[in-house]
Amino acid sequence: MSHADDHQGSRRDFLYYATAGTATVAAGAAVWPLIDQMNPSADVRAMSSIRVDISSVEEGTQLTVKWLGKPVFIRHRSPEDIAHARADDNADLVDPHARNDNLGPDADASDANRTLDKEGKWLVVMGVCTHLGCVPLGNGAGDYHGWYCPCHGSHYDAAARIRRGPAPRNLQVPVAAFVDDTTIKLG
Ligand code: FES
Repeated sequence: MSHADDHQGSRRDFLYYATAGTATVAAGAAVWPLIDQMNPSADVRAMSSIRVDISSVEEGTQLTVKWLGKPVFIRHRSPEDIAHARADDNADLVDPHARNDNLGPDADASDANRTLDKEGKWLVVMGVCTHLGCVPLGNGAGDYHGWYCPCHGSHYDAAARIRRGPAPRNLQVPVAAFVDDTTIKLG
């Protein structure tokens, strides 16, 4: 697949769940006067979490949502993705840390410490390259079946761990959790 195709695929998959975001923002706006009097930071907390409906994200595809002004990749990994990621647990990783906001700072970068569920079907990462902040191309892009940042050539694997190029860290895993089988809460 050419880079042009990659790019097109990336654009196609760059879908925002605007209704979820809008609903959150609207609720935040409605309660603003009360919150403003009670606690100035409460509105920030209300806006900082969104719920994302993942029911239509098919296996082997990625949904990108905007959260706190940044893209978040929510990938429904295929068995092939999972196999690639877990095989690479034994590779010489550039960044040995999980970079997972749901775990402690000492957690290692094993695939199990990167995914949201035990089976490893769901991987949620910030779509921000750790080099200079570009948005990497996804859907198996790059040489490690994951993401590729073309501006300076950073390759991330199927667990979004940096494998080659100038980026120093794995893509960050944000605070995230399943609310139910088809809903993920960010923040
Ligand atoms: S910002 Fe990703 S490689 Fe430079």
